[in-house]
Amino acid sequence: MAEKLVYGNISSEESIRLEKNYGAHNYHPLPVVLAKGEGAKVWDPEGNEYFDFLSAYSAVNQGHCHPHIIKALTDQAQILTLTSRAFFNNKLGEFEKFITEFFGYEMVLPMNTGAEAVETAMKLSRKWGYVKKGIEEDKGILLFAEGNFHGRTISIVTASTDPDCRKGFGPFTPNIENIPYNDTVALEAFLKEHGKNVAAFIVEPIQGEAGVFVPDENYVKDCYDICKKYNVLFVADEVQTGIARTGRLLASDYSGIKPDIVILGKAVSGGVLPVSAVLSSKEIMLCIKPGEHGSTFGGFPLACSVAKAALEVVRDENLIERADKLGKIFRAEMEKIDSPLIERVRGKGLLNAIIIKPKDGVEAWDICVKLKENGLLAKPTHQHIIRFAPPLVISEEDLMKAVNIISDTILSLS
Ligand SMILES: Cc1ncc(COP(=O)(O)O)c(C=O)c1O
Repeated sequence: MAEKLVYGNISSEESIRLEKNYGAHNYHPLPVVLAKGEGAKVWDPEGNEYFDFLSAYSAVNQGHCHPHIIKALTDQAQILTLTSRAFFNNKLGEFEKFITEFFGYEMVLPMNTGAEAVETAMKLSRKWGYVKKGIEEDKGILLFAEGNFHGRTISIVTASTDPDCRKGFGPFTPNIENIPYNDTVALEAFLKEHGKNVAAFIVEPIQGEAGVFVPDENYVKDCYDICKKYNVLFVADEVQTGIARTGRLLASDYSGIKPDIVILGKAVSGGVLPVSAVLSSKEIMLCIKPGEHGSTFGGFPLACSVAKAALEVVRDENLIERADKLGKIFRAEMEKIDSPLIERVRGKGLLNAIIIKPKDGVEAWDICVKLKENGLLAKPTHQHIIRFAPPLVISEEDLMKAVNIISDTILSLS
């Protein structure tokens, strides 16, 4: 007999069948269907409860359906949603002032998805390279780090070193180059040879999709200093690491530097709408003139109201301090699990990962399936790494319950 539905009117089984039949197969989800979310928890249509330890790849830092953000959404939705940038609107300027002061930058360029914000930073950097640095037209180089993940457009996958991201999508964009991550010698060597034409070095302060790869302590600061030496913009992609996730407002804050350009996405809206943003100085931002870049939805009134509310939650609920404190507890608890399946635990704040050493046919995927059966959702990245990134609003009590689920699951498979 079919299980009774608690949320919605379509069962898990039917939802999966519909997605498989009618949707492109560009993802490989865990076999779980989500029908409701609140705080750090989600439920499937049959009413089973799970801890969400992915947070939509760190978009839901403020927790699912946060009442303050949902109120901003529903209030604004009844007044004005989209106007385009052909006109001014009464929400954009207010939001721009708020977000720039929040992050300590002079100007912002709002977009929608993370990839669009990365593209924006790429265009802005090249423009600055031609207008301010004096790079010869069409010679501007954008430099990236191997193992990166910045999104899915053709130009962004040009910078990727992951064959799954690239294969079959060429030809690629010229003058996009790579150096190894966590290697300042490689950066200095590249800039020594090509620095004259390099507009920007675009890098994640912690590589998220690569498996929460935390670089050496001085890496970001040293890269910043090297970039300054060669008059190259230091651009931090904080789409995944930003907005309190790592226990600082920006992961770059650990290094005591202020990137020339910061790229934000995901949690800018607390997972309510696609909102992204590029922050920089007037000197850099004003290199882009009217008509040279934009998006129909970028900076729309609904997004501005939602994003302002989402950042207020980060401030009012001390999410930076929470992520820092709970992250330390989480890593300490993970270190205690005595299992040959665990090779290493790493991360900062509540962006953490366990590196799995496959044993007797048990891989990261099998652990995630078992975690799901035990009431916790996490997803493998790069086969042998499991990322654990709960909403930052999770209570310490729930975190400890989740820790027990992870520990029991891994020990049962060891
Ligand atoms: C560091 C980083 N940059 C950019 C992106 C792309 O964001 P989006 O999927 O919203 O385009 C992601 C997504 O995971 C990311 O982790």
